[in-house]
Formats: sequence, structure tokens, C-alpha cells
Amino acid sequence: MASLLSGRELAGTIRSRVALEAGALPGRPVCLAVVTAADDPASAVYVASKRKACEKAGMKSVGIDLPAEVSQDGYLDAVRSLNDDPTVDAIICQLPLPPGIDPHAVASTVLPSKDVDGFHPENVGRLWRGEDGIFPCTPLGVMRLLEAYGLEIGGRRAVIVGRSNIVGKPMAALLLRSDATVTLAHSKTPDLPGLCRTADILVTAVGRPGVIGRGHVHEGAVVVDVGISRDGDVLRGDVDFEAVEPVCSHITPVPGGVGPLTIAILLENALRLRKAADARKAATP
Ligand code: GUN
Repeated sequence: MASLLSGRELAGTIRSRVALEAGALPGRPVCLAVVTAADDPASAVYVASKRKACEKAGMKSVGIDLPAEVSQDGYLDAVRSLNDDPTVDAIICQLPLPPGIDPHAVASTVLPSKDVDGFHPENVGRLWRGEDGIFPCTPLGVMRLLEAYGLEIGGRRAVIVGRSNIVGKPMAALLLRSDATVTLAHSKTPDLPGLCRTADILVTAVGRPGVIGRGHVHEGAVVVDVGISRDGDVLRGDVDFEAVEPVCSHITPVPGGVGPLTIAILLENALRLRKAADARKAATP
């Protein structure tokens, strides 16, 4: 039987530490700004939980809710107003964006020094170059989970299914930085089950319930399920848990696996941005 990797438990520990550190900072509370535009009920739920977590950690959250028909110029102006606001430490532009708004333009407009998602090209470059920076919350949460459970990464074969800019690509970079041998698989990958069976660490971020089954997992592998889909009121992962759990060594549940870590790391990233800004201010004569 596999051991469960409890993201919920680790997220609680991270959130308590962040709340303590944030509470000890001099001056105004850490402030996270969230820009929303799409008329998307799932996004609305995520945004509400991000803002609630923020407030529970003693941070302030502000929101700019734009109409779904906002123009790209209108959207980018809203982002620039937050860039220019000295009381805002961190900015999230909630994805998915409405049609017609270029996610690359949005990512490049958020100042790297307020980029809590780690989506700005400067932060992406830092990630791939092995430099310090702010990195995307979900993949960073996965790394924390593997480390918290003492799971070896260096020298292991890692396969990631899904090549998004939010999860798959930064996940590949982070595992590579920790000396895994990384393969990034996607919808055009031939013999996906065969490739997945080569993985010591299998991370799936597809968003289709149950696509990863017994035939994708070799005995003793570590399986991390990032893909969350809503099936009515039920949250489901990419992995057919009942089929896979008996063969792997460790597995994340859905819910309670990676999901809670995304928000915990978001708070941690916001705190890091604020501390870096305070340090820059203190160093300015
Ligand atoms: N939508 C789903 N996940 C994310 C995320 O990590 N960041 C942003 N900005 N939007 C998202």
C-alpha cells in the first residue's frame, strides 16, 4: 500500500510560518492584489480562497474585478496601476484570461518585483538558468512536498505529463534543478503509458479525470496528481487512484494533495516579494 503525500498538512505548516513572519514585519501588512476578468465560476472559487487565505495569514488582499469584455489596453492599464501602487506588494492576474487578452502581454506587464506567480519572463529565465527568483506556486509546492517526505529527486527519472506554462514547464525546470532526469510529455507524445512507466517520479497535470491508470505506473513509483477537474461537486484528479495506489510507493490524494500547497506557496511568495522590497528600500540611501 502506498503512503499518502498530504499536501494539506504541509500547507498548514507553511501557512502558520508565513503568518508568523508576516506578522513580525514592520509597517503596513503585506498586500496581495488579484485581477480578475473572466466570467468563470471555477476561477471565482479559487480567487475567493486565495483572498481568504491571505487574510487568515494577516495579509491584506485587494481585488480589481474587470468586466469580461475588457480590452487588452484596459486590462494592462489595471495591471500598471497596481505596479505603480506602493501599497501593493504582489500581483496575481487570475487565469484563464478572457478571450482576446494575450497572456504573454499580461505576464510581461506585471513588474518582476511584484510577480507572485513567477510568470514574468525575467523570473522564468531565472528559473531555467538556476538563479534565485520567484517561481510558480503549484510546481514549487510539489517540490516542497517531495522534500518534506524525504523523497530522493537527484538521479531519479521524472516524467511530467502536461506542458503548460503554469505547471508542466516550471515543474520540469525545478526537477531538473534538483538533478532529476526529466521528460516532459504531452498530447502528441507516442506511447504515453510506456513512457510514464519509466518514471520514478510521475507528475500529471492534464485536467482529465482518470487518464492515468495502472498501465502508466511502474512498481514503487512516486505519483503526484496536479490535475484537478470538477465533476459536479466532486473534485477529481488525473490519476485513477484506486487502480494506481496499490502499486506505487507514494501518492497524492485529490483533494488534499497538491491543491492546498498552491495557496500556501502563493502566500510565501508574497511574503518574499515584500521582504525583498523592504531590503531594497533599506539599501537605498
Ligand atoms: N489559474 C489557475 N492556476 C493559476 C495560478 O497558479 N496563477 C494564476 N494567476 N492563475 C491561475
